[in-house]
Amino acid sequence: LAKTEVQLANIPEGKNVIIKWRGKPVFIRHRTPEEIEEARGVSLKGLRDPQRDEDRVKKPEWLVMLGVCTHLGCVPIGESGDYGGWFCPCHGSHYDISGRARKGPAPLNLEIPPYDFNEAEGKLVV
Ligand code: FES
Repeated sequence: LAKTEVQLANIPEGKNVIIKWRGKPVFIRHRTPEEIEEARGVSLKGLRDPQRDEDRVKKPEWLVMLGVCTHLGCVPIGESGDYGGWFCPCHGSHYDISGRARKGPAPLNLEIPPYDFNEAEGKLVV
């Protein structure tokens, strides 16, 4: 199956990039140290789909996930919502800076696609 490669040096810290993978949007965020700290400081008890941030990323600074709302499949908007992450305008779901569902109808966290890093070339391969 087709792979998509992204040159990570082109994505500055604190920025989002959206790529297409198998016809779906994939969100890539280069997280800041503050965002990583925030994502890791959230208590799992308050989460509807409890997942540690550590289990959602391969490297803390790179968050990679499908840009498909787990409610009914709209594309959430980055850098918005009540939790510093994404907001889905279709029915008002809020995701945090780890892509976890925090408020609104979305039942699950944004899905993580299979991906790897090509360290030699500084690329993300989805
Ligand atoms: Fe995103 Fe309904 S599709 S909130």
